[in-house]
Amino acid sequence: MANSSIKIVTIGGGSSYTPEFVEGLINRYDEIPVRELWLVDVEEGKEKLEIVGNLARRMVDKANLPIDIHLTFNRQEALKDADFVTTQMRVGQLDARIKDERIPLKYGMIGQETNGAGGLFKALRTIPVMLDIANEITVLCPNAWLINFTNPAGMVTEAVLKNSPHKKVVGVCNVPINMKMTIAHLLEIPLDKLEIIFAGLNHMSYGLDVIIDGESRLDHVLTLLADPKKQPTMQNITPLPWETSFIRGLQLIPSPYHRYYYKTSTILHKQLTEFNKGITRAEVVKRLEEDLFNLYKNPDLNIKPPQLEKRGGAYYSDVACNLISSIYNDKGDIQTLNVENNGAISNLPNDTVVEVNCVVTKNGPTPLAVGSLPYTINGLVQQIKSFELVAIEAAVTGSYEQALLALCLNPLVTDDQTAKFILDDMLEAHRDYLPQFFNEK
Ligand code: G6P
Repeated sequence: MANSSIKIVTIGGGSSYTPEFVEGLINRYDEIPVRELWLVDVEEGKEKLEIVGNLARRMVDKANLPIDIHLTFNRQEALKDADFVTTQMRVGQLDARIKDERIPLKYGMIGQETNGAGGLFKALRTIPVMLDIANEITVLCPNAWLINFTNPAGMVTEAVLKNSPHKKVVGVCNVPINMKMTIAHLLEIPLDKLEIIFAGLNHMSYGLDVIIDGESRLDHVLTLLADPKKQPTMQNITPLPWETSFIRGLQLIPSPYHRYYYKTSTILHKQLTEFNKGITRAEVVKRLEEDLFNLYKNPDLNIKPPQLEKRGGAYYSDVACNLISSIYNDKGDIQTLNVENNGAISNLPNDTVVEVNCVVTKNGPTPLAVGSLPYTINGLVQQIKSFELVAIEAAVTGSYEQALLALCLNPLVTDDQTAKFILDDMLEAHRDYLPQFFNEK
């Protein structure tokens, strides 16, 4: 591929994150010669798409690069002959996320956009749309790589791999790169000197080992992580400190998202306190987005504003651009991605999607084997995988029973009857985006 210029299509192009992606492409233009960037969105997002698209054009002009930015609501027109398709859309927009976070809290369960009941409903709304996109790709640009950021990224990627003919799909997430950046900073070494062996599922993967110059430095890193101020976190997750003895006992590096599972009652208590004051992360993000779009409207702005780094997804463009570059340039470097397991984690099914280190060449990612997950984490990972498998089934079939079972399998939903109340409430609240559950028989 490396001798032609590239067409990239970004679905959900009107997202407030897009300027970060555009900046990533500008900074890597020598490696990734993009000829066309198509930003696609739905008509309800018209104003946002125009604001973001105009900023993207000003950024490209400032950089003096010949990248054509196209804005469209016509997905099929955009997809024609694309080389890479990135997906970052939010079905139902932020208002749906507010419901995902608020409704479970009403019933005394954690409200989070990718975990627990919120994560299930995001999957139920998103998977059918992603399958439509994948089917269109099969016809309009069958050689394109589909790079999926849309959450819940692991489940959405697995749903596409299992239910569409398009197999060139990779799920990406910014958590591993954020953890790597924090640990490289702790160790005072450049990022490219550090390798962390990640294994698990999206928002559920652990650092199994830390390698520098071929030597394991895990013990040293675990000692440093005893200091709560040094523990990796993300803008969207309350930085509650880990118990030092827990980290020492675990002998692995947990991800910031593991707080939902090992600190469930503390997080729930915090969330409920904020909920009673009328605040959820989704509502904070809604205000942040309004501020960002007001900044983006300024015709003199021609860079990504630093305020965007307040979003949890900061640095996502590094992940996307590194992946595109390694495929395009056949680099053979190592990146942490969501791909079909194929034996990389020996105690998970081969055809399931896992988050692991992969070698990336022009043929895409090949996962690196880590053997079986330690028994200390295997139970939780298996339970989340069961939840994911049933959730995907529910999203594809529209089965009420499977959706309820998915909730009951999730460790953040602790009672079957409450699960039913949540399910009924959320199905009704998201009715417009869940046609598979409401088709008349
Ligand atoms: C993290 C996750 C992303 C998620 C984001 C939410 O970065 O890895 O998957 O989209 O947080 O951040 P937000 O600012 O929207 O709460």
